[in-house]
Amino acid sequence: MNTLLARLLQSRAFVAACVVAPGLWPAWPLFVTGDSSVAADPAKYVLHHLGFTAACVLVAVLLLSPLRAILPRWRPVLVVQRHRRFVGVSAFVYAALHVAMHFVYEGGFATFRTDWQKPFILVGLVAFGILFILAATSLDRVVRALGSRRWKWLHRLVYVAAVLVLYHQISARKVFPEQVLWLFGPLVVAELARVGRAVVRGMGRDAGDRALGGGSGAY
Ligand code: HEM
Repeated sequence: MNTLLARLLQSRAFVAACVVAPGLWPAWPLFVTGDSSVAADPAKYVLHHLGFTAACVLVAVLLLSPLRAILPRWRPVLVVQRHRRFVGVSAFVYAALHVAMHFVYEGGFATFRTDWQKPFILVGLVAFGILFILAATSLDRVVRALGSRRWKWLHRLVYVAAVLVLYHQISARKVFPEQVLWLFGPLVVAELARVGRAVVRGMGRDAGDRALGGGSGAY
């Protein structure tokens, strides 16, 4: 089972299908089942769906690092790491489609001249700006030009983007959206587990160093 999962996650085609399929989902209620609640305002449905998918893909790429730290020997987690850049850039592409859909829905840029000052839109705009910078600096030659240290520091901005998206998603609805909990919850748990593991390992190393130090002092 693990081997099959690892083989699937190794394949770029499989991961691409997993990333693209959720974006195509609106075709189902719109053209197949003809869901009346969706058909009433299809543009709004697609706008929300693309925003939500962008947030899901962003969380998926953020989960990769803590999963590698928590499960360093589990092959499916190891092989999927090679798709980090692809998944990260996909989050930006979904966000760009979501923003484009916003302008389609609003019928152009006219309302944006005043709307951008609303905290909800402003926060979305800053998050989008960060994702744009991260996608633009994911090209091989830009990574080389920046150097790995600077590139890593810059790409930590993805955590700022995630917090902004969290705020944006919560404020997009009048009542607190439960999806926020099951979307960002696992990420928070995984990050806490990563920190906990690092602390326990650090304490183990300190204890080992003290034992060695004590030993050498005794001789
Ligand atoms: C210029 C930037 C952005 C604009 C103008 C914008 C606009 C919007 C609008 C108008 C809504 C629907 C609110 C409503 O119906 O009342 C929305 C919802 C949402 N947006 Fe954005 N957004 C932006 C950036 C982003 C980014 C970068 C992400 C994620 C990476 C994102 C994720 C979401 C999510 C998750 C929702 C809620 C969807 C739902 O509840 O189903 N947005 N956005």
